Amino acid sequence: MSREEWGIAVVGLGGIARHHLQSYQSRGLRVVGGADVDEIRGHAAREAFDLPFVTTDPEALIARPDVRVVDLTVPHVMEIRRPLVEAAARHGKALFVQKPLMPTLKDARVLVEIAEASDVPMMVNQNSIFAPQALRIGERFGAIGEPYYFQIDNRAWVDPTAHPWFGKSERWVNSDMAIHHYALVRHWFGDAESVSAHLARDPSQPGVKGETLSAAMIRFKSGVSGLVVNNWCYRGPEKHPHPNELILLQGSNGTISAHASEVVISTAGGEERLSVEGSWFPDAFGSAMAHFVDALDGGTPFLCEARDNLKSLAIAEAGYRSAAERREVRVEEALEEAGIQAEGADFW
Ligand SMILES: NC(=O)c1ccc[n+]([C@@H]2O[C@H](COP(=O)([O-])OP(=O)(O)OC[C@H]3O[C@@H](n4cnc5c(N)ncnc54)[C@H](O)[C@@H]3O)[C@@H](O)[C@H]2O)c1
Repeated sequence: MSREEWGIAVVGLGGIARHHLQSYQSRGLRVVGGADVDEIRGHAAREAFDLPFVTTDPEALIARPDVRVVDLTVPHVMEIRRPLVEAAARHGKALFVQKPLMPTLKDARVLVEIAEASDVPMMVNQNSIFAPQALRIGERFGAIGEPYYFQIDNRAWVDPTAHPWFGKSERWVNSDMAIHHYALVRHWFGDAESVSAHLARDPSQPGVKGETLSAAMIRFKSGVSGLVVNNWCYRGPEKHPHPNELILLQGSNGTISAHASEVVISTAGGEERLSVEGSWFPDAFGSAMAHFVDALDGGTPFLCEARDNLKSLAIAEAGYRSAAERREVRVEEALEEAGIQAEGADFW
């Protein structure tokens, strides 16, 4: 079969769906329709992307025989996501769900179990892994030898006070944003062992309930350790806003320093500068969906499989516990607390 035969339904036609739709069109991915409970948004998306079918009834779209993949681009709110995951499971459709799968590990587990009970494949769109700078780093990963340290720095002023739902729950930057980086470092370094996190809330962002800054030191079972900083209350100069975070990887032979447009490899032999083609928005969205569809088509495993993604979410969960209790927290402790078996048959 070809990509063309994997009809995609986009459920939720808000801000991020536009990047999905733009990128899918350039990858030969076929969108058969969209759904949004907000009729005006649905209409606007239909006009902008020439969508063949748009409805305010998501299940009417999901049930269509030409839909084989449901791209869930609705807010990560349980009351919204659960019925949509149930509908996709009921109709036997593969699911491509936006990060974070859910802000808490317990809720994420519920969605994973719904999909598993109906045997529908589910990928979490952790598109940091498919961002052009990450793909470029991946090509030259071996140049630095044995990695032992990493640092990801994302600092900017982002105040979502006026946003209708973003930043309005008890958790924010660590669960909603740092999850990009937790998935990425897991992709590079394997499973994490423990987390020691500092969370803070800048009171000058009055509309935000949760943390506006998250700094998590993570140890991996492989021996690598490093720091992920998501500082969304930084007013200073030299901002590195998402998706232009600074990435630093150190290994026995040298260092990779990267941002959105350049990857620099420094070793004893000299310096190599590689430009990065494309951009995270929207390219990473199309690359992630193309990866999923190709894997479904070929019957092969895919990255960011939802149950596996629980281990990335467990880094965030361990971070919340670490910050609250002022101690280093084992990732397995967070998994066990959510009733998830850390090793063995529970995971692929
Ligand atoms: N880099 C990334 O991967 C990235 C970037 C931005 C947002 N996201 C994620 O994408 C998700 C959506 O974010 P957004 O910024 O597009 O939000 P948004 O509020 O702009 O859009 C969400 C849309 O979903 C619609 N909706 C709500 N309930 C619905 C339902 N039951 N059925 C159908 N439609 C429904 C809303 O009307 C709205 O149009 C979030 O989980 C967010 O974290 C991911």
